[in-house]
Amino acid sequence: MREIQVNLSAIKQNYRELKKLVAPVSVMAVVKANAYGHGMLEVAKALEQESVDMIGVADLTEAISLRQAGIGVELMCWLLEADDNLELAAVHNVALGISTMQQLQSVPNSVSIHIKVDTGLGRNGFMPGDLDQVIEHIQTNSLDVRGVFSHLANTSEAEDKKQAEVFDQALAKFEAADISVEFRHLAASAGALDYPSMRYDMVRCGIAIYGLNPFEDKPVEGVVLSPAMRVTSKVINLKSVLAGQGVSYGYRYRASKPTQLALVPFGYAEGMPRVSEGAMVKIGSELFPVVGRVAMDQCVVDVGEASIQLGDEVVIFGDALNGEPTAEALGLSSGSINYEIVTRIGGRARRVYLEA
Ligand SMILES: Cc1ncc(COP(=O)(O)O)c(C=O)c1O
Repeated sequence: MREIQVNLSAIKQNYRELKKLVAPVSVMAVVKANAYGHGMLEVAKALEQESVDMIGVADLTEAISLRQAGIGVELMCWLLEADDNLELAAVHNVALGISTMQQLQSVPNSVSIHIKVDTGLGRNGFMPGDLDQVIEHIQTNSLDVRGVFSHLANTSEAEDKKQAEVFDQALAKFEAADISVEFRHLAASAGALDYPSMRYDMVRCGIAIYGLNPFEDKPVEGVVLSPAMRVTSKVINLKSVLAGQGVSYGYRYRASKPTQLALVPFGYAEGMPRVSEGAMVKIGSELFPVVGRVAMDQCVVDVGEASIQLGDEVVIFGDALNGEPTAEALGLSSGSINYEIVTRIGGRARRVYLEA
């Protein structure tokens, strides 16, 4: 009664579209966090069939589970903790994004590394002032620098450009030290789409691979992306109520006139935000609002006088091209974004993989 359909053909097609857009630049497909809720192994296998240039994840454990599932493409991860056993990166042929001196000092020199520079995001990575020491250590220990990278804050074009300048200065230090770097990479989906000058040797695309818009304030242009995730449920109860009927905990909604309420077994346990009152879902060919608080297992939809049957499909989100509500809109209804919606979708919903 709850299904997450993941269209692997759409993911492959989105990858091909991005490749075409940024050619000859390489594209890393980011499949961290269970491929943003789409299923890490299935997505990685599909992308491997497309000869994906590189796959990126956050945690070493994610990278190792990809290798253990037989994924053979070039792989990197970038979110390490001091206790991570970096020898495992050598065993499983995983490149590491290195952000601290402790990581640099403990990485075996058979492991390829990508040095992360904090160009302004204020999260992981070396501060630019630390790079002389980093470079000295690399040279003394003959480490294999496969890449130098950073991550944009997507604050404004001016701020992003400032970050690119800091990145260029960092790259110049590696060049001056005669350290050849195959992959200089700065842009994720938003930067890859918006700034051709910031694509360097590779872009790291997550959300765009899944066919979703990385921007909160504008549509994607210049490339056709199709949402890969479609989430459905069913009407399991349908009742006519009188004006004044309260709905769900706290009666945050009361029917203003006689209407029908459809019960949908999709709740916050499945990743539907509790506060998503007013989010639209599609039943038949029409859109109807979720009313009252979303509960753990279920939500209620006011379907007015529409001719709805028990068992009718309810589209929680899918593809706007088919007139379906979007992950973006569900995000907006809860003060969030499509990234968070798809990544948290799950719970008891059955995941089904489709290939055209
Ligand atoms: C370092 C890094 N690169 C790339 C990405 C992919 O970002 P996006 O999904 O916006 O393409 C992420 C995701 O947050 C990231 O942390």
